[in-house]
Amino acid sequence: MAKSPTAVGLRRWPLIILLLAILFSAIIFFMKAAYDSCDAHHYVQSENISRLNPIKFQENPLAFMNSKLVLLVSHELSLSGGPLLLMELAFLLREVGTEVVWVTNQKPVEPDEVVYSLEQKMLGKGVKVFPAKGKEAVDTALKADMIILNTAVAGKWIDAVLKGDVSRVLPKVLWWIHEMRGHYFKLEYVKHLPLVAGAMIDSHTTAEYWKNRTQERLGIKMPDTHVVHLGNSNDLMEVAEDIVARRVLREHIRESLGVLKEDLVFAIINSVSRGKGQDLFLRSFYESLQIIQEKKLQVPTIHAVVVGSDMNAQTKFETELRNFVVEKKIQDHVHFVNKTLNVSPYLASIDVLVQNSQARGECFGRITIEAMAFQLPVLGTAAGGTMEIVVNGATGWLHPAGKEGVTPLAENIIKLAMDVDTRLRMGKKGYERVKEIFLEQHMSNRISFVLKDVLRKAKNHA
Ligand SMILES: *[C@@H]1O[C@H](CO)[C@@H](O)[C@H](O)[C@H]1NC(C)=O
Ligand SMILES: *[C@@H]1O[C@H](CO)[C@@H](O)[C@H](O)[C@H]1NC(C)=O
Ligand SMILES: *[C@@H]1O[C@H](CO)[C@@H](O)[C@H](O)[C@H]1NC(C)=O
Repeated sequence: MAKSPTAVGLRRWPLIILLLAILFSAIIFFMKAAYDSCDAHHYVQSENISRLNPIKFQENPLAFMNSKLVLLVSHELSLSGGPLLLMELAFLLREVGTEVVWVTNQKPVEPDEVVYSLEQKMLGKGVKVFPAKGKEAVDTALKADMIILNTAVAGKWIDAVLKGDVSRVLPKVLWWIHEMRGHYFKLEYVKHLPLVAGAMIDSHTTAEYWKNRTQERLGIKMPDTHVVHLGNSNDLMEVAEDIVARRVLREHIRESLGVLKEDLVFAIINSVSRGKGQDLFLRSFYESLQIIQEKKLQVPTIHAVVVGSDMNAQTKFETELRNFVVEKKIQDHVHFVNKTLNVSPYLASIDVLVQNSQARGECFGRITIEAMAFQLPVLGTAAGGTMEIVVNGATGWLHPAGKEGVTPLAENIIKLAMDVDTRLRMGKKGYERVKEIFLEQHMSNRISFVLKDVLRKAKNHA
C-alpha cells in the first residue's frame, strides 16, 4: 500500500530523532554482564515508538489468554536478557487482556534506578507488581491460571514463598529456561522441574543439553519441554525496514566512529566477556588484515567494532583486548563501544555481524536475528542456538568455536570483504528468514501453543 510522502515523513522523523536522542542522552541503560550465557538481550523503547508501529496481526494467537490470571516470577529485574524477555511476554499478554502479576525474587536492598524505571514501565502497561514474598504473592499463586517461572534460578522462589502449597501449584507452572551453564544444574534450583506442567526453552540445543544434564547429573527427568525460538519485536522491525532511518543512523554512527562510507564494518555485539569470544574475533580480524596485506588483495578498508564494552565489569579481559590492539598496531581499524541496549543504530551502520560465542555457544542469541532483520550476513560459531538461526552458506557462514575457529573466521571475513554480491545476497536471505520465522507474531504463535498446553494440563489436574 502506497503511503503519502508526508505521512511517511511524519512517521519517520520522530523515530530517527528519538533513536539518536536515546543514543546520546544520559538515559542510556547498560546491560549487565552477569547474565550472558543466553544473551537474549533487548532494548526498551519509549511508548511513542510502539504507537507509531502500525503492524497488527489479524488474529492475535494469544487472544485465548484474555482475562486469565498469570503470575510471572522473575529471578531479578535488570536490563539483561532474561527479565526483559519476560517483560516482553508480560506486555504481549496485556495486549490481549490477560491479568498479569509480576514478582521479582531478588531485588537490591538499596533503591535502584533500573528496577524503578522498569517497574514504572510495567505499571504503565497495567502489569501489577507485587512483593515476591508475602500473602499477596501466595494468594495470587494459588488463584492464578498459570505461573511462569523465568530462568532456572527462579526455582528458589517456589519453596521459599509457597512452602506447604508447593505441590498444589506445580501443575500450573511453566518454566522458561534461558541458561546453558553448569552452575545452574543445582538440585536446590530445579528439583521441582519433573512436576511442573512444562518447560519452555529457546533452542533445540539448549533443550537437549538440559535433558541430558538433568538426567546425568541430577538424576531427574525434564517435564514436557517445548522449544520456542524467539522473534524480533515490532519496534526493531520498524527501524530495520525504514530505509531513511537506517541511512541516517548509519551515517551518524559511522561518522562518530571515523569510518568512511566505502569502508566495511564487521561488528560483534555482546557484553564483552571471554565467553562471547571478542578476543578470538580480534585475532581473526588481525589475521585477515595480514592476509589482505600479504596477498595485496583489492578490498575496501575493513574495521572491527566491538559493541558491549564495560571496563568496570571486565577490566582484565578488556585490558587484554585493548593491549592486543595496541600491540598489533591496529588502533585505526578497531573501535570499542560501551554497552547499550539500543542496538539498532549499530545494526544500521555495520556490514556484517560476527557472533563468536564460545564453548556451547548462545542459548539462542537474539542479536543474530536482529542483525538479520537489518539484512546483515552473520559469521557465527557452529554452536548453540546460532546453528538454528544461521543457515550455513545461505545467510552467513559458521566457523568452529575455540582457537581452531580463528583462521576459518579470518577467511570468511575476507570472502565477504571481497565479494559484495555474496554479502548482499546473504543479508537478503537472512532478512527473508526473519520474515518467515523470527518475527514477534511467530514467537507469539509458538508461545500460544505452549500456554494452551499448560492451561489444559492445569485444568485436568484441578
Ligand atoms: C509521547 O509523545 C507525546 C507528544 O506527542 C509527549 O507528550 C510524551 O511525553 C511522549 N512520551 C514519551 C514516553 O516519549
Ligand atoms: C549426554 O552427553 C554425554 C556427553 O556429551 C553423552 O556421552 C551422553 O550419552 C549423553 N546422555 C544422554 C542421556 O543423552
Ligand atoms: C564508556 O565507559 C567508560 C567507563 O566504563 C567511561 O569512562 C567512558 O566515558 C564511556 N564512553 C562513552 C563514550 O560513553
